[in-house]
Amino acid sequence: MGINSLRIIAVSSGKGGVGKTNFVANLALFYAGLNKRVLILDADLGLSNIDILFGVSPKYNLKHVLRGEKKIKDVVAAGPSGIKILPASSGVRELVNLTDEQKLNLVSELDDFDMPFDIFLIDTGAGISDNVLFFCSAAQETIVLITTEPTSMTDAYALIKILSRDFGERHFNILVNTARSENDALNTFRKLAVAADRFLNLSINYLGYLPYDRHVKSAIIAQKGFITIYPNSDFTKRLANVGRKVLDSPPENLKGNIQFFLRKALRAE
Ligand SMILES: Nc1ncnc2c1ncn2[C@@H]1O[C@H](COP(=O)(O)OP(=O)(O)OP(=O)(O)O)[C@@H](O)[C@H]1O
Ligand SMILES: [Mg+2]
Repeated sequence: MGINSLRIIAVSSGKGGVGKTNFVANLALFYAGLNKRVLILDADLGLSNIDILFGVSPKYNLKHVLRGEKKIKDVVAAGPSGIKILPASSGVRELVNLTDEQKLNLVSELDDFDMPFDIFLIDTGAGISDNVLFFCSAAQETIVLITTEPTSMTDAYALIKILSRDFGERHFNILVNTARSENDALNTFRKLAVAADRFLNLSINYLGYLPYDRHVKSAIIAQKGFITIYPNSDFTKRLANVGRKVLDSPPENLKGNIQFFLRKALRAE
């Protein structure tokens, strides 16, 4: 993959706790297994972060870069299978409120960051705060996770509504997590799709679903990726399908690198 085919994918949700971080971690492992070079931007303010899932404890994070104490390459932590993690959850609130001088510093810092990647995954955290919205709108595409709970759907609708109305986003990939069956997942997806079509004039895309698997929690506690420990599970097969589907259907606009993305997210263009 050349520089121009870098994929920049934000993973978000309206409601918290629907499985974004677990999905991002396992999707990263799947792509690493295909020999893709993967960077995860951990911008999640939730309780369980990518570093906890992977059992790595990064020494530094984006906050140190913002303070001018570290270079970006010094805060990038090494996860399993060659996956790299840019820990940003500490400092992500500050990110959207930087002074012009801090933005300039960060942007010149970014220009020196030249590690090559094929896939850049952003775990944005949940909700409609500025940082989530900026990350989603700066990415090439957004995957929105929902569950079959009604509140997860209405919160996802609110996120999609703001991203389309205020940021001009037109393409949304929907992944249903912890569904009992494909029917269950499709029923939930269709409700969201009907509302998006009727009230936002948007056609959203069904990416698939991931089943509930009680071993997900124990894999997190063991700090090993689920798909590594349970390669033959239904969850792993479906995750692989979703991963391949994402690879096979790139968005039209594949321009941009990591610098371009962060500048856009920081509004430092
Ligand atoms: N498919 C699944 N089957 C079973 N449990 C799951 C599944 N996906 C996620 N979980 C569990 O749900 C909980 C929340 O998952 P996770 O932390 O990935 O959600 P999140 O959307 O990142 O949350 P937050 O909004 O707080 O960042 C975790 O305990 C996780 O183990
Ligand atoms: Mg999370």
